[in-house]
Amino acid sequence: MNKIYLDNASTSFPKPKQVVGAMCSFMEQKGYNINRGGYEGAYESAQIVYETREKLCRLFDFSEIRNVIFTLNVTQSLNMILQGLLQKGDHIIVSAMEHNAVMRPVIQLEKKGIEFQRFPCADDGSLMVSEMESCLRPNTKAVVITAASNVCGTTMPLALVGEFCKKNKLIFIVDAAQSAGVEEISMEKMQIDILAFTGHKSLLGPQGVGGFLIREEIVPLIPSIITGGTGSFSDQEETPIIMPDKYEAGTMNLPGIYGLHAALSFLEEVGVSKIKEREMKRTKEFLDGIDKIPGIRVIGKKGVEGRTAVVSIQSDFCDEATLAFRLDQEYGIMTRVGLHCAPNAHKTLGTFPRGTVRFSFGYFTTAMEIEAAIDAIQEICQSETSI
Ligand code: ALA
Repeated sequence: MNKIYLDNASTSFPKPKQVVGAMCSFMEQKGYNINRGGYEGAYESAQIVYETREKLCRLFDFSEIRNVIFTLNVTQSLNMILQGLLQKGDHIIVSAMEHNAVMRPVIQLEKKGIEFQRFPCADDGSLMVSEMESCLRPNTKAVVITAASNVCGTTMPLALVGEFCKKNKLIFIVDAAQSAGVEEISMEKMQIDILAFTGHKSLLGPQGVGGFLIREEIVPLIPSIITGGTGSFSDQEETPIIMPDKYEAGTMNLPGIYGLHAALSFLEEVGVSKIKEREMKRTKEFLDGIDKIPGIRVIGKKGVEGRTAVVSIQSDFCDEATLAFRLDQEYGIMTRVGLHCAPNAHKTLGTFPRGTVRFSFGYFTTAMEIEAAIDAIQEICQSETSI
């Protein structure tokens, strides 16, 4: 049975061949550490890390290269940012569509006296812009919001939220896990103060490398919660305040950064708009196909506007676990079922606690794979009795 991978919102697969090549050649030929060794290979590694920061700046329209920080993933980035920034008595606004990468740090901080409020969202996941003002408190310090829902793909109006933050002197933090590399994001135009990203989703890099980009004026407000050796200021036991060292203690994931460097080169070659265009073509084919299947409900936006290539569905004919299990076992189609680490997003969409079966397409998803998925859903629904 041919396997069909439709779980790109979890992690993109396959990766461009260049990504695998770059990682392997680093490991085989020159796996030297940076900022520690005074020899040529170490300088070459440092150059690749620097170029990767440059590429991320170009991608997100940001000019402060030394303020591009590498971490393991978006979760680590958001923990470092939120735990570093927020103090007892502060208030933060999130959206009603957040993933647990935002919510779990926020809930943990709530226990330490930090309050939070959710921007209300409609039942298609879209932000209720007219309700934003009502969430403000005198002690509101920041807004943290996903750029696109990992459950149903609905995108957030980042420029508008940026405007709101600017007007109200709030720090604007974006979780770009689901949109980096597939949506145009300009930190400059959208007035984003901190952008957290992960390398392994639509940036098409490997797992274990992510980071954040942070404006210089915000840096003094966020002490690093992870400290240690940086290879710099080795005469001091105090964490350096220079960037990027302040937030990059410990040896970084160099094979991952080599992979991300190659992935970003691939993205530059193809272009974000081309990638988006192809993914939305597949999304439209899928939405059009399942629209003809009786008893299938699309959760969130029904068309291709205002969304990414992530589609969640429920069926009147079988529960979600059965549908996902049969897709995998009988058709080799891989999806993600359940609540997708985003319980409140499902509450907003009206799908909690039942959950959904989520199909997420990538740059390499083919029209034939979409067709096979539609046929499989139809066959499964026809063979099940209603629930
Ligand atoms: N957040 C990832 C997902 O939605 C892992 O599957």
